[in-house]
Amino acid sequence: MPTRPKNVKRNVSKNAKAGTRVEIKKQTSSEIQSAKGKLGVMIPGMGAVATTFVAGVEAIRKGLAKPIGSLTQMGTVRLGKRTDGRSPKIKEFVPLAGLEDLVFTGWDIFEDNMYEAASNAGVLEQKLLDQLKPFLSSVKPMSAVFDHNYVKKIDGPNVKKGKTKMDLAEQLRDDIRSFKKKSGATRLITMWCGSTESYIEPTEAHQSLKSFENALRKNDEMIAPSMIYAYASLMEGVPFANGAPNLTVDLPVMLDLSREHNAPICGKDFKTGQTLMKTVLAPAFKARLLGLSGWYSTNILGNRDGEVLDDPGSFKTKEESKLGVLEHILQPALYPELYGNIFHKVRINYYPPRGDNKEGWDNIDIFGWLGYPMQIKVDFLCRDSILAAPIVLDLVLFLDLAQRTPELRGIGIQEWLSFYFKSPMTAPGLYPEHDLFIQLMKLKNTLRHLKGEELITHLGLEYYD
Ligand SMILES: NC(=O)c1ccc[n+]([C@@H]2O[C@H](COP(=O)([O-])OP(=O)(O)OC[C@H]3O[C@@H](n4cnc5c(N)ncnc54)[C@H](O)[C@@H]3O)[C@@H](O)[C@H]2O)c1
Repeated sequence: MPTRPKNVKRNVSKNAKAGTRVEIKKQTSSEIQSAKGKLGVMIPGMGAVATTFVAGVEAIRKGLAKPIGSLTQMGTVRLGKRTDGRSPKIKEFVPLAGLEDLVFTGWDIFEDNMYEAASNAGVLEQKLLDQLKPFLSSVKPMSAVFDHNYVKKIDGPNVKKGKTKMDLAEQLRDDIRSFKKKSGATRLITMWCGSTESYIEPTEAHQSLKSFENALRKNDEMIAPSMIYAYASLMEGVPFANGAPNLTVDLPVMLDLSREHNAPICGKDFKTGQTLMKTVLAPAFKARLLGLSGWYSTNILGNRDGEVLDDPGSFKTKEESKLGVLEHILQPALYPELYGNIFHKVRINYYPPRGDNKEGWDNIDIFGWLGYPMQIKVDFLCRDSILAAPIVLDLVLFLDLAQRTPELRGIGIQEWLSFYFKSPMTAPGLYPEHDLFIQLMKLKNTLRHLKGEELITHLGLEYYD
C-alpha cells in the first residue's frame, strides 16, 4: 500500500452533525504536482476514435469548436452547502494539463497519417479536417506490434518484426523514450484505441512479472499485442488507459507493475452509446422496484470497429463487456422476484452503409404493480466516435492528474474513473459500480477529497437545523 503523504492532516468536518461526522482528509493543492510542461499522448490504434479525439482537440485549440461532452472541459463541481454558491469548473478546481500542452503520437498497422486516417474514418466533415490538415498530417503512426490471430478481420504493412515478444516490447520502450525526447514532453500517457482483440481468459502467464516476462521470451500465444503495449508503458512509468474490452491491463501482473512504477491504470471499454443508456435506465428501474423480464439490444454499425466485431472472437470480448452491466446494477440475488429471471441479449451487426453512425435499438420488457407487463423501446441514432472522443480527452487528463497526485499514483487501478467504462476495473474481489450517477458521484467526491473539501453525501439535514 502507498504511504500517506506527510503533510496530509486528518480533520473532522465542521458542518457535520453529531453522529454523522464525516472524517475528511485535509490536503493542500501543493501536494498535487503542477501540470507544467507538455503532456505526451501515445495512442496504439489511430483509427476513428483516436483521430476524432486528436482532430477535435486541435479544432478546439483553434477556436473552431467546443469540447462538448467533456467533463474536464465543461463540467463543474459543487463545493460546500447548496446555499454556498460555490461550483467551480473542474479544470479550475484541480490542476489539469491544458489542451495547448497536449502533444500526440501513436502506432498503427496502417501507414496513414492522422489526416488520411481521419478522412478514411469519415466521422468529421472534410471541410473541418482540411482546416486542420498541416497539424493532422504531421502525426504519423509508428510501426505497430500486431498479431493477426488476435484481430482476424484486418491486416496491414506497418508492423514491427522481432524474434520474441520481449524484443517487440523493447522496441516499444525505445519508441516511448524517443517520443519523450523528441516532443519535449515532461509526462506521458498511453491510451489504447486499437481494435478489439479476440476473447481470452487470464492464464498462469499473466499472474506475476516473472511468469509474464518468461512468456514474452517464449512467445506465449496468450500474450496479446495490447498487453505488450501495456507492459512497455508501465515499465517506462507511463499510465495506461484501455478503451477496448480486451484484458490488456486487467491482469495481476499489470496491477503489480502499475503500483511498482507509480503508473496508474484504468479500463475497460469506453461507455459510449447503448451501454450508457443501459446504465441510466437500469438504475431507474431498480430505484422504483420495477421488474425486468428481458432486454434485447441490437446494433448496426458500419465502421472498421464494426467490421472487426463481425469476427466471433472479437465479438465475444465485446459481448462479455456489455453483458455484465445489468447483473451488477440489478443485483438479482438481492431481488430475485424482480431480476431473478432476465433474458439479456446483445447483438452487433456489421452494416457498412451507416459508417460510424451507429444505430442501437433496445427492447426492454419490464413489469410493475401486481406483475403487469410494460415495454420500453429505445432507438439511439448515435455517432460512435463523437461520443468516445471526449471520454478519451477526460481519461488522458485525469490519468495524468492521478500520476501527479501522491495519494493516487501508487494505488494501481483508478476506480474513480469507472464513469467512463462499460466494464470498469476494480480491486480483486470487488464488484464494479455500473450506475452512471454513482460513478459520477464517486468521481467528483474523489476530486473533493483530493483537495480537502467536504464530501457531498446529499444528507441535507443541516438545512433544517
Ligand atoms: N464509441 C466507440 O467508438 C467505442 C466505444 C467503446 C469501445 N470502443 C473501442 O475502441 C477501439 C477503437 O475504436 P475505433 O472505432 O477507433 O476502431 P477503428 O477500427 O477505427 O480503429 C482501431 C485502429 O486500431 C488499429 N490497430 C489494431 N490493432 C493494433 C495494434 N496491435 N497496434 C496498433 N494499432 C492497431 C487498427 O488498424 C485501426 O486503425 C475499438 O477496440 C472499439 O471497440 C469504441
